[in-house]
Amino acid sequence: MTPVVELDNLTRRFGSFTAVDSISLTVDEGEIFGFLGANGAGKTTAIRMLCGLLLPSAGTGRVAGFDVLTESEKIKKSIGYMSQKFSLYPDLTGRENMHFYGAAYGLTTSRVKERIGALSDRLDLGSFIDRRSGSLPIGWRQRLALSVSLLHEPKILFLDEPTGGVDPVFRRRFWNILYQLASEGVTIFVTTHYMDEAEYCGRISIMHRGRIIVRGEPARLVREHGSDSLEDLFIDLIKERDINAR
Ligand SMILES: Nc1ncnc2c1ncn2[C@@H]1O[C@H](COP(=O)(O)OP(=O)(O)O)[C@@H](O)[C@H]1O
Ligand SMILES: [Mg+2]
Repeated sequence: MTPVVELDNLTRRFGSFTAVDSISLTVDEGEIFGFLGANGAGKTTAIRMLCGLLLPSAGTGRVAGFDVLTESEKIKKSIGYMSQKFSLYPDLTGRENMHFYGAAYGLTTSRVKERIGALSDRLDLGSFIDRRSGSLPIGWRQRLALSVSLLHEPKILFLDEPTGGVDPVFRRRFWNILYQLASEGVTIFVTTHYMDEAEYCGRISIMHRGRIIVRGEPARLVREHGSDSLEDLFIDLIKERDINAR
């Protein structure tokens, strides 16, 4: 297995506060990796470093073979990123957003058109692609944001709470798309608060106050900790540490 994400003691401080505290992990090609943690754990900060959008304060990392410190431009071209906040232009339609972002990725207009056709079929965008993206229901908005992140056919996808606020039916369909992408060799690094989704991941890590506190296959972690479910494990681990920190 080739690791496509490799982190070694990656750290980010904001002033005297350490948001990401020496995290180390590897993610293999084609893996669906669930990056879990309560609000404020440091997930978004870590993802932004992996996507070449924020410089680490210490430690090293490689994504798609490129160094997060010195090769962020190459990383940006090799990955797809769906930010936690909806980042498409709300006044533009999906199609217009795709043209805008396609050009930003350096794709020709005819290539963007080809990709719009392929992604629209694949993600079943239908007439939603020609509606103002800001007026779409959240499930469709997120699906559109996913298709924008796939325009340049990245081999690695970073998805920051892509299904937050999305209904269960849409969440399931969204995950079916992720599965299909993974089966084609796309590596998926995803954060979620939904434990049913975490169970779909090949491996997960749980982050707490900037540190990774456990990692492994979801079912195995549940078994090893003698928990009843992943949700119980998650809550117990965090509660335990919060009590000990007092
Ligand atoms: N630019 C920033 N300046 C100062 N603090 C920040 C900044 N970005 C994030 N933080 C802090 O870092 C911590 C982790 O935030 P974040 O990475 O967004 O966590 P998560 O995505 O797990 O909810 C939070 O306490 C947040 O307030
Ligand atoms: Mg976040």
